[in-house]
Parts: sequence; C-alpha cells; structure tokens
Amino acid sequence: MTIKDYVQNRKDEIKNLVASLTEKPSIAIVQVNEDAGSNAYVKGKLKDAEQLGIKAELIKLDITTSQADLLKVIARLNNDPAYDGFIVQMPLPKGIDEELVKLAISPEKDVDGFHPLSSLVACTPQGILNYLKHKNIPLEGKNAVVIGRSNIVGKPMAKLLLKENMNVTVLHSRTSPEDMAFYIAHAELIVIAIGKTAFLDNRFTYKKEAVIVDVGINRTEEGLVGDALKNLPVKLQTPVPGGVGLLTRLALYENLLKIKDING
Ligand code: GUN
Repeated sequence: MTIKDYVQNRKDEIKNLVASLTEKPSIAIVQVNEDAGSNAYVKGKLKDAEQLGIKAELIKLDITTSQADLLKVIARLNNDPAYDGFIVQMPLPKGIDEELVKLAISPEKDVDGFHPLSSLVACTPQGILNYLKHKNIPLEGKNAVVIGRSNIVGKPMAKLLLKENMNVTVLHSRTSPEDMAFYIAHAELIVIAIGKTAFLDNRFTYKKEAVIVDVGINRTEEGLVGDALKNLPVKLQTPVPGGVGLLTRLALYENLLKIKDING
C-alpha cells in the first residue's frame, strides 16, 4: 500500500467520524511567509480540511508583519471560541522569534503540539511514527539515524524514536563526512530533514533492510524534491512529493480531533 492509499484510508475514517459530530471541528492556519514548501503544505492542509468536513480558515499575513502584530493575532485566536485550534506555519520571516511564537500559542489550541506543555506530539514526527508502525517496521533495539536537529522535526523525532526503544543518533551540519557515512551504514532507519537536494546518494552504503524517511522539500528546476536521491538500494524509501507531507497533514487533523476530545 502506498503512503497515498494509507493516508486516504485513514482520511475516510476521519471523515466518517467528523460527519457524526454535531459541531464540526474548526482550525485556523496562520501563514506569514512565501516559502515554497509552506505554500504547498498550506494548500494541502486546506484541501484536506474540505475533504474531511472540517472548517479551516487561512489567515494570511503580510510578509512584513512584525512580531508584535503576529503575537496580537495569536492572542486573539487563543481566546476565540470559533476555533478549536490553530497553527502558525513555519518558518517565520527573519526578525520573528519562532520559539517565542510557539510559547505564545495556548497549549489547548496548539494543534501542532509545539508548546512544551502540549500533550500532543509535533505532526511530522507523529505522522512518520504512525506510518512506520502501520508498515510493521521493527523499531525496538534497532539503530535510527536522524539527520537534522530542527525543533519541529529532528529533535522531537529523536525523542519519539527513543521512546520506541530505538538506538538514536542525531547527525547534523557539523557532523564529519566520515562519521556521517559510518552511522548511515549501520542504520536500520534513517530520517532525513536537512534541506539539501540529493544529500543521501550512492556515495553512502546502506543496510539493504534500511528504511529511509525523506522529510526534505526542496524546490529545483524539476519541481519539489526531497533530501534523498530516488531509488536508493534500501527496503523502503518514502517519496517526495506524496510522502511525509501527506503524513504530516494527516497527523494535523488527528491532533485537531484529539484537541476537541481533550477540551470537551
Ligand atoms: N513547517 C513545516 N512543517 C510544519 C508543521 O508541521 N507545522 C507548522 N506550523 N509549520 C511547519
């Protein structure tokens, strides 16, 4: 089953669940960037909402919006009962402190699970883990390499895999090429979120039973591509597009339903 089919099945279930609710869940998406990846994500999130019967509103702010003005919008959404939850699409323009913004979102409305007090896990790591479990990928005691240490993917992904009893190594831009090759060669699971086209290629050796989860979205002349070259010699490699992006979008609406339950 492809990721697309897996996501579609789960979406059908969510759609039925939403149809049975008297009050439809509602979400606001705040976007303050013109980032190619974000535009694709936001468009996809709005399309999903429509298919699922969920009310979604895009609040698009000008790229020049100040941190103070963004915080005002967040304060308003925190207190607006019209929305069960909301997200602020990352990355934010230079001059806006992303960590401050994440802390400003009320944990009760934080569909992304970015707030330290949130009971939810960030959508990309959660979506990836759900998919790995669906595919019955062995995790316990296996070697996982997470390449990239961002706060929205690398760090929460590493924490989540550790919770699954994997041996987790986090590699990043300062890792030496020798160490990168060493850890990759020993990994059963490689999650890559480094933002570099074809970073994983045939100069590395891979375990043949390895799984590569490609979180990259890079704009090239050939369109959006991931961080890994296609068709590497491994057991499973998630495609871009049509891979992790779909899993993230699915996890967003699963989180929204959890928020609705949690908040009554
Ligand atoms: N940018 C890339 N992924 C995400 C995500 O899951 N949530 C938000 N808010 N921004 C993102």
